Amino acid sequence: MILVLYAHPYPQHSRACKALLNAVSNLPDLETRSLYDLYPDFDIDIAAEQAALLRADTIVWLHPIYWYSVPSMLKHWFDVVLLRGWAYGNEGTALHGKQCLWAVSAGGDEQSYSASGMHEQPFENFVAPIEQTARFCGMKWHELVVVHGAHTVDDAQLAAMAEKFRTRLIELGSQT
Ligand SMILES: Cc1cc2nc3c(=O)[nH]c(=O)nc-3n(C[C@H](O)[C@H](O)[C@H](O)COP(=O)(O)O)c2cc1C
Repeated sequence: MILVLYAHPYPQHSRACKALLNAVSNLPDLETRSLYDLYPDFDIDIAAEQAALLRADTIVWLHPIYWYSVPSMLKHWFDVVLLRGWAYGNEGTALHGKQCLWAVSAGGDEQSYSASGMHEQPFENFVAPIEQTARFCGMKWHELVVVHGAHTVDDAQLAAMAEKFRTRLIELGSQT
């Protein structure tokens, strides 16, 4: 089972993330949890989230990049769901061996994520905290999916990225 944890603060206004989500929504054995829709007051149902994680072989974190990181809901989700004794620490093996894919949209295009660009650093420099969160919980980290220039990429390029995302999920699903 593939679990897509969708953390878009304004899902109805999304273009890029919505394209990725729409591209995979009809895959078999896929569950999507739109965290901002489920928890408008940030009161995350920890038991429900952990049960969803246990059902999954592949876990996808899908969201727009906010301040070089995850939107606040997903950070809060990390804080309250990935608990010691469950996700890490003694007997904290619930997520061991599960596949993790980070899929994001970023307003900045590829040039902007370079030494001469607005963000001054390659996008890869911002990956480590999220990657290590997954690895610390024993998950298998996979090369991330990034839609750069989320507001400027044309429809055809966005459709191609969405199709690539769908292919990646099918490949991950077949590895489990
Ligand atoms: C509060 C906030 C912070 C943002 N921070 C970043 C950032 O650090 N880097 C970046 O490339 N884009 C940043 N953006 C742009 C979003 O990533 C962009 O709007 C989003 O990926 C578009 O995807 P969507 O069509 O699914 O909403 C930010 C946007 C907002 C509202």
